[in-house]
Amino acid sequence: MNYQWYPGHMTKAKRMMQEDIKLIDLIIELVDARIPLSSRNPDIDELGKNKFRLILLNKSDLADPGANAKWTVYFKEKGYAVLEINAKTGNGMRSIQDVVKEVCKEKIERDRKRGIVNRPVRAMVVGIPNVGKSTFINSFAKKACTKTGNKPGVTKGKQWIRLNSSLELLDTPGILWPKFEDQSVGMKLAFIGSMNDEIIIMQEMAIDLIMAIAKDYKAAIEERYQITYPDAENEKEAAIKVLTMIAEARKCYGANESLNFDKAAALFVDDFRSGRLGRITLEYPERQEK
Ligand code: G4P
Repeated sequence: MNYQWYPGHMTKAKRMMQEDIKLIDLIIELVDARIPLSSRNPDIDELGKNKFRLILLNKSDLADPGANAKWTVYFKEKGYAVLEINAKTGNGMRSIQDVVKEVCKEKIERDRKRGIVNRPVRAMVVGIPNVGKSTFINSFAKKACTKTGNKPGVTKGKQWIRLNSSLELLDTPGILWPKFEDQSVGMKLAFIGSMNDEIIIMQEMAIDLIMAIAKDYKAAIEERYQITYPDAENEKEAAIKVLTMIAEARKCYGANESLNFDKAAALFVDDFRSGRLGRITLEYPERQEK
């Protein structure tokens, strides 16, 4: 299947991002911990050069803990500050402020030398659609008491959430576009539900997803549906057999008692997305996937 991401308003998004980036010191970039590279934007490093950087491996509750640790090391080695978080529960978010302080020490020191004390670090949250930006801002800002309005020198209409005396967050996240020209990236974004399912052929995606999961997590499939992963001529044949086994195990029947593969496919994809297959990561740093 052709996993296509439509660029849509990319140019406009890019322009807005360039404007907003001028106003901030720190970029808080959310990625999906299950696909940390595929859920990154290809241009963010260029757009955010000269800015402090923090990468949040969000939805870490759905990703393999071992892989989360590896990705943390991977990004740290590239010079980013990194934290594993769950924006939904707030897990891992407590240390953000300390990390921000540490990351922005240089700026704070620079300000101090110029006689500016206690000027808050300004940050913005960025990420591709569905990585959890709004969830993150909401739960992060829960502790915040004030929303600061249009301050002099700040572009009109910008709202800042004052988290404490040393950190302010732009209240609207920057929406980035994924590497939509890359098919394998498109496929992984479809797996995690970051692509409109209406343009997806569910059965085909389920078969691709079974193959992707079977690379490292065959046991998760076997356990969930109480099946034995079958032998077949090739990976795809095996995955098709697995979908049939899932349809049987979950009694997905259509008219005339025939198996309903669409139903089985949707059930499988939903089991993966909601974590019922366990914590699964679909790309690993040592494999250097795109
Ligand atoms: P966005 O602004 O970047 O587009 O993403 P948004 O916050 O809308 O989050 C997209 C979905 O991801 C939401 O689920 C949200 O609850 C979920 N989510 C965000 N962070 C986490 C996390 O750390 N772990 C898990 N497991 N899920 C997370 P939804 O299905 O759209 O809504 P709902 O079912 O939560 O109500």
